[in-house]
Amino acid sequence: MNKLIVGNLKMNLITAAERDRYLESVKKEVKGKELTNCELVLCPPSLHLQSFISENENKEFAVGAQNVFWEDRGSFTGEVSALMVKNIGVEYVIIGHSERRRYFNETDDVVRMKINSALNVGLSPICCVGETLEERQNGKTTEVIMNQIHAGLADVPVSKITSVVIAYEPVWAVGSDAVPTSDEIMEVRILLKKIFADTFGLPVAEKMKILYGGSVKAATAKQLCIDPGMDGVLVGRESLIPMEFVKIAEIIDNA
Ligand code: PGA
Repeated sequence: MNKLIVGNLKMNLITAAERDRYLESVKKEVKGKELTNCELVLCPPSLHLQSFISENENKEFAVGAQNVFWEDRGSFTGEVSALMVKNIGVEYVIIGHSERRRYFNETDDVVRMKINSALNVGLSPICCVGETLEERQNGKTTEVIMNQIHAGLADVPVSKITSVVIAYEPVWAVGSDAVPTSDEIMEVRILLKKIFADTFGLPVAEKMKILYGGSVKAATAKQLCIDPGMDGVLVGRESLIPMEFVKIAEIIDNA
């Protein structure tokens, strides 16, 4: 199964010049590399989605949005819909990132509506789940993740579930340098597979892609992705450095 290496560029690449330099640099890094077992996905700010698609002549990467609204169109000032990004060639969308849950009050209900809207237009949602440090310390990791999955994916029919990608991102590992052990990640992977097997059956559970995210670097890619048997990574800070991002992809690709 192809691994997914997703770069979440967050609210960066401020100027057009910065964006163009970034794209040139990604293309230069990817050139000549035989990345046969993984797919790169870059998620720029929505303002740059169109350029990421048009400047990607050789289809070196797929493009994802960092967020969408759940209605297709209408009077929703400031929002961008799943249908709009789908129409320009976007393939993925990150939903329920911990920063959106924290700063924009996104609840599991909002996550559920956004996931449905993404699936309805044919986007693959990358649904982020994960516990806070306090929840982990109180032994609530399993409960939190089960609740987030059950609520967020409540309306997804079995026919569409394998289009959903799950990203396990412990909130305390995002943007910090703290990371879980391989065993801790593997426990969550097993939990997620069990939830999907119980709800949708084993063949579906086996097909589901489960990524790890939170302080992934080239130096930690083995511990955080390969050792716990994850299907790829969601990378924040290091995705802003094309050389490092592609290095992470190479390590995972060669594993
Ligand atoms: P980080 O961010 O790699 O900078 O920890 C990960 C994420 O927010 O998805």
